[in-house]
Amino acid sequence: MTKKRETWKSHWGMIAAMIGTAIGLGNIWRFPYLCGKYGGATFLIPYVILLLGVAMFAMMCEWVLGRHTKRDPLGAFDKIKFPFGRDIGAWGIVGPFFLYSYYIVVTSWVIFFIFASLEGLYFGKDTGWYFASFLGSKWVFLVHIAAVAITSSILAMGVQKGIERACKIMIPTLFVLLVIVAIRSVTLPGAREGIEFYMRPRWEGLLRPEIWMAALGQVFFTLSLGMGAMLIYGSYMKDEWGIPMNALSVTMGNTSASILAGFAIFPAAFALGFGNVIGGAESIGLTFIVLPKVFEVMPGGHLFGGLFFILLTFGAISSAISIQEPAIAWLADEVGWPRKKGAFFTGAVLWLMGLPFIFNGFVAGGLGMKLALLSKMDVIIGQLAIPVFGMLAIIAVGYFMGNRGFDEMNKNARIKLSHTPLKFWVRAIVPIFMAILFVLTLLKATGVIHEGEGVGFTPVGITPITIFAMAFICILFWGGFIYATARVLIIEKDKHRRRKLGLHHSR
Ligand code: PFF
Repeated sequence: MTKKRETWKSHWGMIAAMIGTAIGLGNIWRFPYLCGKYGGATFLIPYVILLLGVAMFAMMCEWVLGRHTKRDPLGAFDKIKFPFGRDIGAWGIVGPFFLYSYYIVVTSWVIFFIFASLEGLYFGKDTGWYFASFLGSKWVFLVHIAAVAITSSILAMGVQKGIERACKIMIPTLFVLLVIVAIRSVTLPGAREGIEFYMRPRWEGLLRPEIWMAALGQVFFTLSLGMGAMLIYGSYMKDEWGIPMNALSVTMGNTSASILAGFAIFPAAFALGFGNVIGGAESIGLTFIVLPKVFEVMPGGHLFGGLFFILLTFGAISSAISIQEPAIAWLADEVGWPRKKGAFFTGAVLWLMGLPFIFNGFVAGGLGMKLALLSKMDVIIGQLAIPVFGMLAIIAVGYFMGNRGFDEMNKNARIKLSHTPLKFWVRAIVPIFMAILFVLTLLKATGVIHEGEGVGFTPVGITPITIFAMAFICILFWGGFIYATARVLIIEKDKHRRRKLGLHHSR
């Protein structure tokens, strides 16, 4: 493959595409359901620690692997001479199939809810009951086919430019709508308890290993790690873009959306009487049970709900595309299949792989049972497979690339990460932390340790801790996003200006 490798056109385009793959169902569906299941604020603490201390470094490692080798996952691991590099890299092609198989099923529910909102089908009904009856209807089959057909057709056309351009408009609009829904949610009478649940940690919960394990899976899932997607996207990055500050911008931008989704869902869940859904077997359906109720009590709820689910569909589709793409690219590069053939072939396989989840919902009784298979798959992929592959990228950069990897990370960066602590962090702290969590996951899978009862929550009213936590989280993520993004974009502009004037920049 002597073809010159493509790169992102503009810096802003790269950030939009990165945030585009990262923002999806993971932020608005998976984050709130896990956060609810594992005790709200109690989950947020390991989530923030693992996001900034582990996942952000894992993302930088995937970018380093991609940009340094300019290859797909298979070629990248092979090129740096990682033991069994091609076999391990092959996970970057096969793994996404398993993720896509259920990710697209949830995407298809979102698509259905566009019509359900516009038509007002759930208005005035028990939304838990409505969601369960939808899962047992013929609609699930139809929207599933539609969702698979949409991603396959987009990929067959190869309209990457269209997607990127659309990302730049749709993702910011999704943010604005999320802000509006969150404001409506926190201003509902009775919302206080939800805010408290989301922002006041129950410290004793931090001793529960399953909360840390779930948080570890989620931080990798939300940043699109462990599936080859970020590695491939990193291979399109220009050498002149510093990795650390861009990683901060993408991490903060992506997570701002998750934090907002929590504010949209938890206050409303408590205010509208769905507190009991949180943490139970049905919590995986939280988004489809609580948000419709919020739209019902909003002026213009039909339209607003429709628009919201359209944008969420867009976020989900733009992520699903990045999950389907590696296999198509591999078929094109290595087997020589035309893009179209690859897109429809993978589409057919992926459609078949999604059917078990659809049938489970169709035939089982009770919402919890209908969602059981999908929940299991989500644990296997999201909590085990994704972090394991993510860890391999860290080991590859930390141990197999040696100084080349750390130099690549700091290449052309204005704020460089000091080598010695960076090496220590990537080589020792991150793997040790992850290894402990893997051992705990295995102990749990083999039944040696059991999942405890839900983390208890007794409302005591808004305390100074709640207010402090809220201010801290909002400033950290939204402020961090604005700071990091402004910095990389302003510096970029400055570089262009200096280049035009024929000046070299001094640092
Ligand atoms: N980050 C995406 C989300 O949060 O919805 C999910 C995802 C996309 C995971 C691509 C992994 C991936 F490679």
